[in-house]
Amino acid sequence: MLSGLFRIVPPPTYLTMPCVGVDISDTSLKYLAFKPTAFEDGTREIDTWGDLTIPTGVITRGEVTDLKQLVAVLKEFKEKTGAEFVRLSLPEEKAYLFETTMKNNTPHKEVRGLLEFKLEENVPIPPREVFFDYSIMTADAKTVNVEVSVVAYPRQTIQSYYDACVEAGLRPISFEIEAQAMARAVIPRNMSGAAMLVDFGKTRTGIGIVYKGALLYTSTVDIGGEQLSQVLRKELGDKPEAELTKIKNTIGLVKGKESSVVRDALMSTISVVKDEVATRMQYWHLRSAADDSRRITAVVLCGGSANLKGRPDYFTETLGVPTIRGNVWENAFSFEETVPPIGRRYSFGYAAAIGLALKSII
Ligand SMILES: Nc1ncnc2c1ncn2[C@@H]1O[C@H](COP(=O)(O)OP(=O)(O)OP(=O)(O)O)[C@@H](O)[C@H]1O
Ligand SMILES: [Mg+2]
Repeated sequence: MLSGLFRIVPPPTYLTMPCVGVDISDTSLKYLAFKPTAFEDGTREIDTWGDLTIPTGVITRGEVTDLKQLVAVLKEFKEKTGAEFVRLSLPEEKAYLFETTMKNNTPHKEVRGLLEFKLEENVPIPPREVFFDYSIMTADAKTVNVEVSVVAYPRQTIQSYYDACVEAGLRPISFEIEAQAMARAVIPRNMSGAAMLVDFGKTRTGIGIVYKGALLYTSTVDIGGEQLSQVLRKELGDKPEAELTKIKNTIGLVKGKESSVVRDALMSTISVVKDEVATRMQYWHLRSAADDSRRITAVVLCGGSANLKGRPDYFTETLGVPTIRGNVWENAFSFEETVPPIGRRYSFGYAAAIGLALKSII
């Protein structure tokens, strides 16, 4: 259950209003909204979606470095969509996550106060400069102490995104860490064990671990699709980005005589990402050695560079954990009823925007 601390406006009055999920990264703004009403079986229809480019230097590793330019992008988004209410994702680079426990059925109004005491020992910035949210993990009535996951941000980080929205004429309803939004979209609701989400974007790879629906760990590796293009350019000479994307997605890591140059070049970079993922996985398994149910049972890939051919197989083989490309529509609708308007390849980058949009209706 999410407490909704990052909610700026109390939600009930707005629940029926169209609310757009907005995922802002260093290089792009992606948005998506479902129609406010669901079908009887709970499935959804998409109202609007799209993306805008964020110029270099506006956001740097999640930090707003040019507020004026960000306002300009958000204004463009508002003009294009007519949106007013938005749910925004926050960069995981800036987040602090920790887990704690508290007595089962602690009254709501006491939870925050208790957690404030725990901030000091878990977050390296003064508690008054922190915004935090928490999620109490489901437990049965007999459980004495329940697990609570907490995510904290420097106040300034949230404030800068909030100010940019307001200046652009938007009303932010909530903020949420990017990987948590992605998890809402791609992780099947009845999944057992923990899942590792790997968001392989353009400039970075976000790694998140989700257990019982709660995001418990995040980390970022500074390697993305751009680095794959760079190594290809070194080997193949300068080629347009679209051509390189095609090479990545059709040859990729797959073994074959004529593709060995491509494969070796890509492998030199992707193996570094794999090592980073493996290290985090080991750390997690050490940390949760006492609890078998927390073992990672699946790696779910999303982000545009999840398209790299052969990537799931390579991860499955080297990590020893089944790796799949995520279905970003997993919790929105089934393909039997709906043909998504966003092509599959393109859709991997939309996981966070979809998760945010789902929040406004679930
Ligand atoms: N079919 C495809 N459609 C879109 N992007 C693709 C496709 N195939 C590969 N890519 C690559 O995916 C990357 C974009 O991914 P994504 O949209 O997740 O990034 P981003 O969220 O904008 O960036 P970041 O999270 O790194 O700041 C680019 O490097 C692009 O080349
Ligand atoms: Mg991204």
